[in-house]
Amino acid sequence: MPVITCVEDLRVLAKRRVPRMFYDYADSGAWTESTYRANEADFKTILLRQRVAVNVEDRSTAVLMLGQPARMPVAIAPIGLAGMQHADGEIHAARAAEKFGIPFSLSTMSICSIEDIAENTSAPFWFQLYMMRDRAAMVRMIERCKAANCAALVLTLDLQVPGQRHKDLKNGLTVPPRPTVANLVNLATKLRWCAGMAATRRRSFGNLVGHVDAVSNMRSLSAWSSEQFDPRLSWNDVDWVRRQWGGKLILKGITDVEDAKLAVRHGADAVVVSNHGGRVLDGAPSSIRALPAIAEAVGSTTEVWMDGGIRTGQDVLKAWALGARGTMIGRAMIYGLGAMGEAGVSKALQMLHKELDVTMAVCGHTRITDVDRAILVPGTY
Ligand SMILES: Cc1cc2nc3c(=O)[nH]c(=O)nc-3n(C[C@H](O)[C@H](O)[C@H](O)COP(=O)(O)O)c2cc1C
Repeated sequence: MPVITCVEDLRVLAKRRVPRMFYDYADSGAWTESTYRANEADFKTILLRQRVAVNVEDRSTAVLMLGQPARMPVAIAPIGLAGMQHADGEIHAARAAEKFGIPFSLSTMSICSIEDIAENTSAPFWFQLYMMRDRAAMVRMIERCKAANCAALVLTLDLQVPGQRHKDLKNGLTVPPRPTVANLVNLATKLRWCAGMAATRRRSFGNLVGHVDAVSNMRSLSAWSSEQFDPRLSWNDVDWVRRQWGGKLILKGITDVEDAKLAVRHGADAVVVSNHGGRVLDGAPSSIRALPAIAEAVGSTTEVWMDGGIRTGQDVLKAWALGARGTMIGRAMIYGLGAMGEAGVSKALQMLHKELDVTMAVCGHTRITDVDRAILVPGTY
C-alpha cells in the first residue's frame, strides 16, 4: 500500500482500482476541459501572505454552514454514481463525513438511495434535486426527503442541458457496465471493485429505479439525462420547488452576479458558486474567479459557498478569504472513495483539514472566522 499524503495520491490509487469508465466519468470535464482545468489552476495563482511571531496556539477551523456545525468550511458535494466508484459508495462517504463532522449531500443520480443514507447514518444530510420533466416524480422525491429528515434541499440549476464529456461517449458509460469485451477485459483488472459490487445489491440508481417510470429501461446515462432533465427550468420552477419543500434551500450552479441576485430574490438560503466541476459549459470562468463578485453582491444577505477545483486545504482557505462561507468537494472525495472506500474519504478530509489548519497558522491566524482577503497577496486574486 503506497503512503498517502495528498489528494493526488488518492487520485492515482483510484485510477488503479476503479473501472476505467467510472474513473474517466469522474476525472473529466466538458469538451476541451479548459474550465475543468482552470478550476484547479486558478487557485494556484492566488498567493498567501506568511506572517511570523504571532501566537497561533489553540486554532479552530469550525464554522456553521446553514446553521449546521462543520469542523471546517467543507461539505461533500452531490456526486452522481458515487456508488460506482466503490460498492455502497454514498453510504461510505456519508459515514466518513459524519465521523469527521461535515455535511454530506446526496445526488438525485446516486446509487444508494435517500433511505439507505438515512438508515446508515444519524447526522442530518442534504439532498440534491435536478429539475425533471416528471413533476409528480419530483414531488414524491421531495416527500421522501422530508420522511428522511433531510436538513436542506440542494437544487442544481446548471444542468438543464447536459454537457458533453468525450470520454463518457467513447467508453459507452452505462450503469451497470455492459458486458462488452473491452469492459470485461478492464473489469478483470479490478477484482477488488468487482468483489465489492458482487457483495452489494446497490448497483443501479437507488433514488430513481422503481420511483421514476422511465428509469427501468435506461439505455445510457447521457441519453436518459437529455430526455429527463427539464430544459424549460425557470425561476418560477425554483419557487415551485421551494413551496413543495418548505425547508432550507441551497441553489447550486451560479456563476453570474445577476443570477446570484435572482437566486436571493427567489428565496435561496445559500447559493453555491459552481460550474459543476467544469462538466457543463466549457469556456466558463473557474469558480474561484467567479466567486469574489458574487460574494460582494449577495454575501451580506445570503450564505455564499463555492465548489470546483478544491484539492487542498489551502484552496479552502483561499475560497474563504474571497468570501465563501463554505465550500463543497467533489473529486477530492471521489478519489478517496475509489481508492479506499470510507477510509479513503476520511483520509481526504483529514488531509484537507491539516493543510487548512497549518496554512492558517503560518499565515498568522487561529480562527478561520477571522480570516479575510488580507491573508492574500494583493494583485494575485
Ligand atoms: C463525477 C461527478 C458527478 C457529479 N454529479 C453531480 C450531481 O449528480 N449533481 C450535482 O449537483 N452536481 C454533480 N457534480 C458536480 C459536483 O457536485 C461539484 O459541483 C463538483 O464536483 C465540484 O468540483 P470538484 O470536483 O473539482 O470539487 C458531479 C461532479 C462529478 C465530478
